[in-house]
Amino acid sequence: MEDWSARQYRKFEDERTRPARDLLVQVPLQRPRRIVDLGCGPGNSTELLVERFPQSEIVGLDSSPDMLRKARERLPQCQFIEADIATWAAAPDTDLLFANASFQWIPDHPQVLRRLLQALPAGGVLAVQMPDNTREPANLLQREVAASGPWADNPQIKAAPRPDLPSPEAYYDLLKPVCAQIDIWHSIYNHVMATPQSIVEWFKGSSLQPYLSPLDAAAREAFLAAYTQKIVAAYKPRIDGKVLLRFPRLFIVAVR
Ligand SMILES: C[S@@+](CC[C@H](N)C(=O)[O-])C[C@H]1O[C@@H](n2cnc3c(N)ncnc32)[C@H](O)[C@@H]1O
Repeated sequence: MEDWSARQYRKFEDERTRPARDLLVQVPLQRPRRIVDLGCGPGNSTELLVERFPQSEIVGLDSSPDMLRKARERLPQCQFIEADIATWAAAPDTDLLFANASFQWIPDHPQVLRRLLQALPAGGVLAVQMPDNTREPANLLQREVAASGPWADNPQIKAAPRPDLPSPEAYYDLLKPVCAQIDIWHSIYNHVMATPQSIVEWFKGSSLQPYLSPLDAAAREAFLAAYTQKIVAAYKPRIDGKVLLRFPRLFIVAVR
């Protein structure tokens, strides 16, 4: 995947950090020795970890040099490493693996979750949040545009749609055999967006990236214009002219 644009991602940082806060309050640890923020992005989730666990050693990990640059500027006291979550392994004193909005991008992520959980020390925690929004209009419309434009036969565009997340039952059956406790839940956010175009801006920092990065500048513009038109039709203004972006998310907190 092309480098994530940290600037684009940070446009909606308050909204994107809210689920990280909601995940963190459910982490049943007092003083973890070492914490790794998997897919730390520009350091917004890492900052929450620093606030809650000031005594712990905190490491941010991401595959994007752009994101890591921003994270290092923001939290010079933390260590940040460039690595691929799919193949990375935690040091033995790691008590908390925290991953807000990153595992959905990892191929075969359930097996990666199981591998990482299994390697934690007894009492160690794996805390994960993933968008579960592949059936929401904003995401379905990305697929529609991808399948109908002049880019429809581009193999990278064909491979761009993110598969639906497995069910909570599937995660439970996979992870319960390697942990003492597991809590799985959904929350549905209704983010207030200034305009329908704000929804397009939001997804330019996340799920639109795999569609846009294979295209040249003119095709990108055409893709975004077609997508914007569909978003305007699908997300109607509320009483004050703003629109609500409905956003379901899946949370997992597993204790080894
Ligand atoms: C949606 S952002 C989440 C950022 C931050 N954790 C937050 O709470 O907002 C997802 C991050 O995961 C990173 N990422 C995606 N695939 C990755 C991989 N295979 N290994 C490491 N990081 C990855 C991206 O570079 C991006 O910074």
